[in-house]
Amino acid sequence: MILIAHGGVGSPRERDEQVMKAVEKGYEEGMSALEAVIAVVEELENDPTFNAGRGSRLRLDGSVQMDAAVQSEHNIGSVAAIEEVKNPIRIAEIVHDSPYLLLVGDSATKLGKKRGFESKDLKTEDRIDELEEMREKLGTEEKLKDYKKFYDEMQGGTVGCVAYEDGEAAAAVSTGGTSYSIRGRVGDSPLIGSGFYVGEHGAVVATGKGEEITKRLSSKRCHDMIGEYGLERGCEIVVEEFPEEHTLGLIAANKEGCVSADNRQMARASIEE
Ligand code: GLY
Repeated sequence: MILIAHGGVGSPRERDEQVMKAVEKGYEEGMSALEAVIAVVEELENDPTFNAGRGSRLRLDGSVQMDAAVQSEHNIGSVAAIEEVKNPIRIAEIVHDSPYLLLVGDSATKLGKKRGFESKDLKTEDRIDELEEMREKLGTEEKLKDYKKFYDEMQGGTVGCVAYEDGEAAAAVSTGGTSYSIRGRVGDSPLIGSGFYVGEHGAVVATGKGEEITKRLSSKRCHDMIGEYGLERGCEIVVEEFPEEHTLGLIAANKEGCVSADNRQMARASIEE
């Protein structure tokens, strides 16, 4: 099993141990790559210090809307703007095993509740304080375009995991989105090629400013660069060519091993055995 996870670009390296605790959940005898990445991301969603599941950032209206995705060698499952569900990655897993690719909003939320993942308790005190600060800074700004100057200072955070086991690669990602996000905003995380990608050269997951990652299809680009330059250099190239003012972190795994690359600090942990 080759397994690497991250706690979001911008998360301090002091949290590597928390990420390792999650990685250990994915390192159990007999787990497939797909089962492993889902187990790891579920554990990170349960840790309120990461921006996913329980620790998700709040939208400007005070709601919690989350995105998550999982990809195996065989299929993809994504959810976007899901609410009141404690483990969005488990709902992405259900979508992965369904005829659909991406479920959004109410339909994803209803599915999550029906499968027993309902939670009314996603807002942490820290996130409520953060929202108050954002609202204070925004003041009377009302038009969407006025948000731009604040959004440029946005903070993100996404959790993700990629694995390679028994000839198969898999990727999983989950996020509460970015600060200064309005309701309904969707970033890179649930979008194939942007927040995640699995292909012949392995599995990739991205973290950072979703709009910029999506414009550049950074996960697919990283996958293709790995094919050309190998794991380590492939990831480095994509970080180097990304505009420095925007955050980006990548993790990747294939039969050769696993690596990470980023343009800020990023908590991470891996196991290769
Ligand atoms: N990378 C997470 C987001 O932009 O929503």
